[in-house]
Amino acid sequence: MIKNKAIWLFGLSGAGKTTLAKQVSQTYEKANIKTILLDGDILRNGINKGLGFCKEDRSENVRRIAEVCKLMLQVGTVPIVSAITPYESDRLKIMKVIGEENLVLVHVKCPIDTCESRDPKGLYALVRKGEIKNFTGISDTYENTKIASLTINTEEDSIDTSINKLLESLSIKIEI
Ligand code: PPS
Ligand code: MG
Repeated sequence: MIKNKAIWLFGLSGAGKTTLAKQVSQTYEKANIKTILLDGDILRNGINKGLGFCKEDRSENVRRIAEVCKLMLQVGTVPIVSAITPYESDRLKIMKVIGEENLVLVHVKCPIDTCESRDPKGLYALVRKGEIKNFTGISDTYENTKIASLTINTEEDSIDTSINKLLESLSIKIEI
């Protein structure tokens, strides 16, 4: 079981980052490993309040999350991040801040059409009505990646299978 690395899930809105992060956290906690969930969507109301969705703000958003990861690892807590992290340059910076050896970078991969059809928070509908600008994958950048430690494809696999594959990759054998 990977105890001393941050787990950073990135991908489009609706790809399944938050769901996977919660499951990983629960599994770790059951094994008495302390975790902290760092969800971009939630942290934007707290330490990242005031940041928007332009490139600079997204970079600052994930940079701060990476700094929190570093602190959490110092106190023996496994940080589990769910944040879109749309730019490859920021993913590289995160690696630098946390340290490549201390990070599992997970691409939660799902085509934009599928994310839009799921639309769990109704955001894509608002985007189509013109009520949200600069939305990742529709009207703002989402860069592909060459540096992910692993990829979980939530279009091909059901959520249970995705969770199993992720946990297996994190070297945990569990029963769901
Ligand atoms: S980023 O790009 O990593 O800084 O984004 P993140 O901090 O993960 O925040 C993404 C969540 O913010 C909501 N939201 C938007 N996402 C993308 N683009 C735009 N314009 C936008 N506006 C609001 C949305 O709920 C995202 O959460 P998830 O969980 O990804 O759906
Ligand atoms: Mg989410």
